[in-house]
Amino acid sequence: MSQEKGFVIWFTGLSGAGKTTLTEELAPLLRERGRKVEVLDGDVVRTNLSKGLGFSKEDRDTNILRIGYVANLLARNGVAVITAAISPYRDIRDANRRLIEADGSDFVEVFAAATVEQCEARDVKGLYAEARAGKRPGFTGIDDPYEPPLHPEVVCETGREPVAESLRTIVDFLEARGLVATPAVVR
Ligand code: ADX
Repeated sequence: MSQEKGFVIWFTGLSGAGKTTLTEELAPLLRERGRKVEVLDGDVVRTNLSKGLGFSKEDRDTNILRIGYVANLLARNGVAVITAAISPYRDIRDANRRLIEADGSDFVEVFAAATVEQCEARDVKGLYAEARAGKRPGFTGIDDPYEPPLHPEVVCETGREPVAESLRTIVDFLEARGLVATPAVVR
């Protein structure tokens, strides 16, 4: 049954683009629709599975490949997995896509499309200010690359639309794909 099929919602986007916020809204919503959900958030993964890794290209690639590996194990057992890491490099995201799709799970790349200007204007964690002051060399979008996806399944304009609108776009996509049940209509 397609609703038991595991899948991976792979968020990608700059720091502060809204990946974690959307994940925190999406996870309970999917649970309400009867899915088992696991979340792999970059900030959290870096405190355990990827503890000790930094932000060189090599370390970022290792981090993202680890997240992809675990996401695949979960998805092939029917879990709805949500990942929220910057995942700045296209080839590594695509490698995870290939791994996950080869095991029969759907890979739904969701681009949190807020621009550097928009993320920096919010600067929720104060990290952009630190990066501009030279205290955080190699900060994504400032002096380190971010490669936007070329063909993401979903684009959320997280720099200029409300969270609820981004969420709606994602859920609409998942419903259309048959990955989550549509809610029963209450009359
Ligand atoms: S990734 O590049 O490997 O995908 P990940 O999503 O795990 O990154 O971690 C990004 C988070 O680490 C950011 O949201 C921010 O809080 C923090 N961070 C610290 N230093 C950097 C940096 N140089 N570049 C980007 N994020 C950084």
